[in-house]
Amino acid sequence: MQLQQRMRASAHTTASKTSRRPLLCRAQAAATTPKVNINWDNLGFGLQDVAETMYVAEWSPEKGWDKGALKPYGPLQMMPSAQVLNYGQSVFEGMKAQRSAKGNIVLFRPDRNAARCAAGAERLSMPPLPTEQFVQAVADTVRANADYIPPIGKGSLYLRPLLLGSGPILGLGPAPSYTFTVFGAAVGAYFKGGQLTPIDLIVEEHFHRAAPGGMGGTKAAGNYSPVLVTQLAAKKNNYADVVYLDAKTDTYLEEVSSCNIFVRSGKTIKTPPLSGTILPGVTRASIIELARSRGYEVLEEPVAVTEAMEADEVFTTGTAVVVCSVGSLTYRGNKRAFTAEGQAGSTALELYTALTQLQTEQAEDPFGWVYKC
Ligand code: COI
Repeated sequence: MQLQQRMRASAHTTASKTSRRPLLCRAQAAATTPKVNINWDNLGFGLQDVAETMYVAEWSPEKGWDKGALKPYGPLQMMPSAQVLNYGQSVFEGMKAQRSAKGNIVLFRPDRNAARCAAGAERLSMPPLPTEQFVQAVADTVRANADYIPPIGKGSLYLRPLLLGSGPILGLGPAPSYTFTVFGAAVGAYFKGGQLTPIDLIVEEHFHRAAPGGMGGTKAAGNYSPVLVTQLAAKKNNYADVVYLDAKTDTYLEEVSSCNIFVRSGKTIKTPPLSGTILPGVTRASIIELARSRGYEVLEEPVAVTEAMEADEVFTTGTAVVVCSVGSLTYRGNKRAFTAEGQAGSTALELYTALTQLQTEQAEDPFGWVYKC
């Protein structure tokens, strides 16, 4: 508690939040402005309300990971020769802290993010962070930034753990040293239309997101910039995002640039299997279990794009998007609408409600997924 207070006090004098406010001495600020002035009813998904405190740990070959520390949110120092800037040695995570109906501050399955980060680290030849340190770092960052967690139902504190090859190198090889950081921001719905508004997607027919033997199954930073060219083109045509097809046959759905995809026909839900090219989403895994517990048959098997075009419903899942109904899918110029204008599909709505109620302790958590900070 004392540490948090000290961090907040020092962060208030230096972090980026202060640049949005008039410069006042601390006593004046306390008397005249709320500590955090956020319009909770108008949260988007961005850095407008970036949290003032971040966590940073460093790894060296001699000492391994140090204990890490909380610091004011601000620049990381690295040389232009940093491995990550030249060769892209980097994995990241997305997590959310929320206020719960029982008055707790909660995370969702943080051990899963720790494990995925460690698996990504191994794939990219980086030293993994021990699970306890990862979870502790995230929980400490959350507690230090408690003022940035929206009231229940208004959004969340989105957390971004990052593992970077920050040390300098010239020839291609792993970095000589690494940085792990966690920063956060108060956020609302990921897509512009709001959480329960269905999104229009288009099937990408030229580019692929990942190939067998590649790194599509890791949350490597390098998986996310190559999708921008297709995503930006899609947005120009009023699609929220694109769906990728498999690189071998151009037949089966893979995922959306920012989330996993599910297709429902009757009481059967299908989602592409984790064959190495699909991101093993924490929300994806949770929705599979939750849907099964509610009587759906859930199959992790290849889903042909033609099958998706004939399904009853399509939805996407991810930490940022939560569960998002797909209003329409466009493939080879044919648009298939799944929902009535502006209305979420019934299963997407059911699973979104079940998941978010569990996450915010408004419903029982029989799986033990909720983690109290
Ligand atoms: C998340 O869902 O947390 C992600 O990291 C996806 C990102 C494109 C926002």
